[in-house]
Amino acid sequence: MQQVITHWWEVDSTDTIEGLKRQPEIIRAAKLLREGGLVAFPTETVYGLGADATSQAAVAQIFEAKGRPSDNPLIVHLGSPEQLAKWVEGVPSVAKICMKHFCPGPLTLVLPHNGQIADNVTAGLDTVAVRFPSHPVAMALLQVADIPVAAPSANRSGKPSPTQAQHVWHDLSGRFHVLLDGGNAGVGIESTVLDITGDVPMLLRPGGITLEQLRDVLGDVEVDPNLHSEKSKPRSPGMKYRHYAPSGEMFLVHGEPLKVVGRVNRMIKEDVRQGKKVGVLTTEERKHYFKQANHVIACGSRSDPESVARGLYDALRTFDQEKIDVIYAETFPECGIYTSVMNRMRKAAEGRMIRV
Ligand code: TXA
Ligand code: MG
Repeated sequence: MQQVITHWWEVDSTDTIEGLKRQPEIIRAAKLLREGGLVAFPTETVYGLGADATSQAAVAQIFEAKGRPSDNPLIVHLGSPEQLAKWVEGVPSVAKICMKHFCPGPLTLVLPHNGQIADNVTAGLDTVAVRFPSHPVAMALLQVADIPVAAPSANRSGKPSPTQAQHVWHDLSGRFHVLLDGGNAGVGIESTVLDITGDVPMLLRPGGITLEQLRDVLGDVEVDPNLHSEKSKPRSPGMKYRHYAPSGEMFLVHGEPLKVVGRVNRMIKEDVRQGKKVGVLTTEERKHYFKQANHVIACGSRSDPESVARGLYDALRTFDQEKIDVIYAETFPECGIYTSVMNRMRKAAEGRMIRV
């Protein structure tokens, strides 16, 4: 693609939303979005790469910059819940309940659109995915721009989503116009995608809002049965692609903690003997067990699941920088935010799991 100059603008994300709306960087970035440019911005999940969702030409640049397959639809970001009605067929009561409890925040709703969003945003589907980010920089930008903004995660397709401005710069500089640096993103993994077109809401992608939280509010929530299957086609098209993947070969090692430690250390020894560079993805509680690995990363603390979510993608990226050949990772119990963490880790490991 044709190279462009990417500007890196720092914004003070500790300011209030009203204050942010007056910051010159936000005003200029919003103007650029309205004129068809590409702006990367922080959200409370990960950084997004945004374009005017009503402009086919603006949105086409996102797919080109990311190297993203065109059959993978984008999420539309809105600055306030009142704007939803403008872009969808109708606002069902389940959408209202979700918005009341979780928006703004890391929840994406899939519902029938009214044809006003560009076709390449929805990949020609009858539905559109919409969310209302709660990060103050994202909110200010969306409110000033006053347009729907299509924004996938701001990484090269297939790489871990960016949780820091530096990650976006590394993957995409020269391929978009402005990077709004608002510090680290919050949750660290993407939003939860919930399809509310059917009788019972269906979870298409686990993320920042947990299944338990959704069930507390909505009662019955189904989980896309294809989510756990390697073979069948998930209903969230993006879930079928290799994602979040480090360059090294990653293995999840599951079982009783001491057995996991023993097995991993034996594998490290053998790999190092063969001349491989070995990484271990672990937690504060266990990091001191793996002395022989070339690179040990504690991505958070087991007792603080949110910290693990926040640290995961940066850890995967660090293994790439260090040119690690093999990565052994500990597993987490499948509940709360750990369900979303494990979903991403299984993808990063392409399903490779060693049970001990
Ligand atoms: O947290 C997030 O959601 C981040 C930030 C930037 O907002 N965005 C993000 O976008 O993760 P992306 O493009 O990386 O993932 C969008 C997911 C994909 O799995 C896609 O297939 C799904 O949403 N999706 C989009 N439109 C859909 C639709 N109409 N029906 C079902 N799934 C849809
Ligand atoms: Mg993505």
